[in-house]
Amino acid sequence: MSGLLDLVGGTPLVSLRHSGVLAKLEYLNPGGSVKDRAALSMVLAAEASGALRPGGTIVEGTSGNTGLGLAQVAAARGYRMVCVLPDKTAVEKLDALRAYGAEVVLTPSALPKEHPDQVVAYAARIARETDGGWWADQYGNPANPAVHVRTTGPEIWEATEGRITHFVATIGTGGTISGTGRFLKEASDGRVQVIGADPVTSSYNGGDGSPFAIEAAGHYVHPQTVNDPWPDSYHRDVVDAVVAVPDRSSIEACRMLARTEGLLVGGSSGTAFAVARGVSGDCVVVLLPDSGRAYLSKYHSDTWCRRQGFLDGELSAFVADVVSVPVGTPVAEARRVLESSGQPALPVVLAGRTDRFPPAAGEVLALLTASQLTGSGTVGPAPAPPVGLGVGESVADALERLPDGGVAHLVRDGRLAGVVTRSALRAREHSVGL
Ligand SMILES: Cc1ncc(COP(=O)(O)O)c(C=O)c1O
Repeated sequence: MSGLLDLVGGTPLVSLRHSGVLAKLEYLNPGGSVKDRAALSMVLAAEASGALRPGGTIVEGTSGNTGLGLAQVAAARGYRMVCVLPDKTAVEKLDALRAYGAEVVLTPSALPKEHPDQVVAYAARIARETDGGWWADQYGNPANPAVHVRTTGPEIWEATEGRITHFVATIGTGGTISGTGRFLKEASDGRVQVIGADPVTSSYNGGDGSPFAIEAAGHYVHPQTVNDPWPDSYHRDVVDAVVAVPDRSSIEACRMLARTEGLLVGGSSGTAFAVARGVSGDCVVVLLPDSGRAYLSKYHSDTWCRRQGFLDGELSAFVADVVSVPVGTPVAEARRVLESSGQPALPVVLAGRTDRFPPAAGEVLALLTASQLTGSGTVGPAPAPPVGLGVGESVADALERLPDGGVAHLVRDGRLAGVVTRSALRAREHSVGL
């Protein structure tokens, strides 16, 4: 008879019907994700070193799955668990953590690394200030990549009888790709190609670090972060290429895996598969990190996809080039920009981004009309975030969400794609006889 934690790892590799790609199903770990491996490995190493003692408290800052893995180990081995998460984490993940008995601490999602309440810094602080506290530190803990050298890599090598030619995975902490990739490189004398799949704006592929829609993969950089080294758990030397994947492609691939392969997986699985299906090789293996159950209200929800503009719809007709100004722009200058743009309102966005990508919808902090651009001073965030309408929404739905006389910004692929007024929507409603 084995204990629960003996069930971590040993996940199946299945062949996908439409692409021939082999998928490693990490959602079949007992805690539901690849992170069970790192969580167990880090706890066992901390017990062995004496850093975590009986009755101690495990603390971690995480976007979810590492917390779940650690909460599972904590419950099974008798520790208290405190988990710090960004406040935008899917609510299903928070509830699951609480179900394991973990204490959940929420902190604002978009804080610079140097801020004391930033997820990782906050977790480290709680661990320091708690008697018997131990900070798991998945980004700096060598037991994270090491477990993939010991388990994930050998499992794939054996299951393919050494025939694997390409390995594709996303990069969050980098533990999975670094450890698995290192083992596969060594076992194959460098023959296996290790490919990272990365949300397009993530800095791992040279993106600008601005927000992306895929949870737990990629590297986000707050514009006020001064020093942002990549985590120690990411070993670039084993990765041959990092491929940028637009969020729309990740989400489309994730939804497709459910509908055409019967695999209900999360968004980062979509990112990885979007790359793997395009790789030509004799034996391509993709790692699918977690289940789609945690994202039924996100990637798998038509409503969410329409509102974030990952599905097209009636409002796609309003997509237009749009000019915006950063927070802190003098009002007089903002007014000049608005007047020469011909737009009904001017989006005010987070300062410090390049113009390589349109501003992320979540970084649109105000939407100002000419009548609001009077007086002196500078433009700043509105007290409440402005209304964003997804291109996938219907005109009728949009009218319901937009107050009389209102103006909204349009969202396509999670990013700013236009400015619309209630009267323009009404005009369209009449012109198409809705
Ligand atoms: C859903 C999901 N995808 C991808 C990753 C990235 O894995 P890693 O941190 O090993 O790079 C994680 C890690 O938390 C995850 O939870």
